[in-house]
Amino acid sequence: MDFKRSDFPEDFLFGAATAAYQIEGSAHGGAGPCHWDSFAQVPDNVIGAEDGSRACDHYLHWQSDLDLLRDAGMDAYRFSTSWARVLPEGRGKANPEGLDFYDRLVDGMLERGLKPFQTLYHWEMPSALADLGGWTNPDVHKWFADFVQVINRRIGDRVHATATINEPWCVAFLSHFLGHHAPGLRDIRATARAMHHVLKAHGAAMEVLRAEGQENCGIVLNFEATGPVDDAPENIAAATRQDAIFNRWFIEAITNGRYPDEAMEGFAPHMPPGWQDDMALIAQPIDWLGVNYYTRGLLRAAPDMAWPAMKPVEGPLPKTQMGWEIYPQGLRDTLVRLARDYVGDLPIYVTENGMAWDDHVENGAVHDPARISFVSDHVRAIGEATREGANMKGFFYWSLLDNYEWAFGYEKRFGMVHVDYVTMTRTPKASYREYARALRR
Ligand code: FCB
Repeated sequence: MDFKRSDFPEDFLFGAATAAYQIEGSAHGGAGPCHWDSFAQVPDNVIGAEDGSRACDHYLHWQSDLDLLRDAGMDAYRFSTSWARVLPEGRGKANPEGLDFYDRLVDGMLERGLKPFQTLYHWEMPSALADLGGWTNPDVHKWFADFVQVINRRIGDRVHATATINEPWCVAFLSHFLGHHAPGLRDIRATARAMHHVLKAHGAAMEVLRAEGQENCGIVLNFEATGPVDDAPENIAAATRQDAIFNRWFIEAITNGRYPDEAMEGFAPHMPPGWQDDMALIAQPIDWLGVNYYTRGLLRAAPDMAWPAMKPVEGPLPKTQMGWEIYPQGLRDTLVRLARDYVGDLPIYVTENGMAWDDHVENGAVHDPARISFVSDHVRAIGEATREGANMKGFFYWSLLDNYEWAFGYEKRFGMVHVDYVTMTRTPKASYREYARALRR
């Protein structure tokens, strides 16, 4: 990789990210069922009908997995704490084994000199709460706030940073409008409610964290570099709608207490009653912003379709195993735009960025030059954004390990470390070694 740690300020952190359901193995340790378990049981929802019951068996291998982070010289580890593992029924009685697991995990990070970056919700809606409508239920923010208090009282004294929610766009739009993620709905009313409730839950969680004296709290949003496929006015308008729904909805609510007009065009009739009264809760200050960035999105108008009447178009750039175009410039543009239009000097972390590739172990090694270039180019883009005014504080590669890639099952390999899902053998890829080398320089 053609960057060195010394290119960045001393307080800039390098790390890697994972999420509970994608690696732990939800069958271990008394975790309750979550909506991904049942979503995976419906034909065509998940490739191979796979779920996260075993995943990478990280619940059993967490110590050697943390060693991998330390041995690469990383500064920080972004992990998540599963709601369904901590509260198997979503509310009420906590699972002592679950709390003990996260307690040991955080101590394990500290023993290895890794700063714990916790995410409170990375998509395990407990089934008992999904039964009540999950993110569409007007009480979901209260349930979430109670969970936040339970887990925070156990490990909050040792975590370095806390994020409330991972990728609210995926939680709400991808899961309730496009139907690609659990709970797999395709309903605009459910979507409008989820789009709002997920932010209200963020606000309620921030309130709990502040009341508990927790410092360094933020949220992780995902962004894409959105643009029209050409200059036709209808395609420009389509891209503007996508930008409003995907990129602007969450950050504008958090920083300005309002929702973009181009998104409200579709959602206004379906918003939960009294939503305006929640905007102050949603817009309370955060201490840092997490940005997940993978690719760009090209749009064209689709006038025959229902609102938002647009379709993604396949672009011409080289693509990853996900079919996502590789577009590092979009990361720079996103970060510069966020600093300029929304967050000013607020610390920003790239909390996820990475690529999937069809990696194979050959003679004990995994040769992944495409990933090495990908990381180099995106880390360079972060450096450029810093020079253009974004207050960049860190980079987390997604992901430490190959893992359960949601609707794609185990087919897509994002890890810097290869996982053999039969033997659970971990094999560091060439990119892992290169990352470690860059961090030593
Ligand atoms: C993000 C998710 C993460 C992973 C990557 C590839 O949307 O936060 O869990 O699936 O994409």
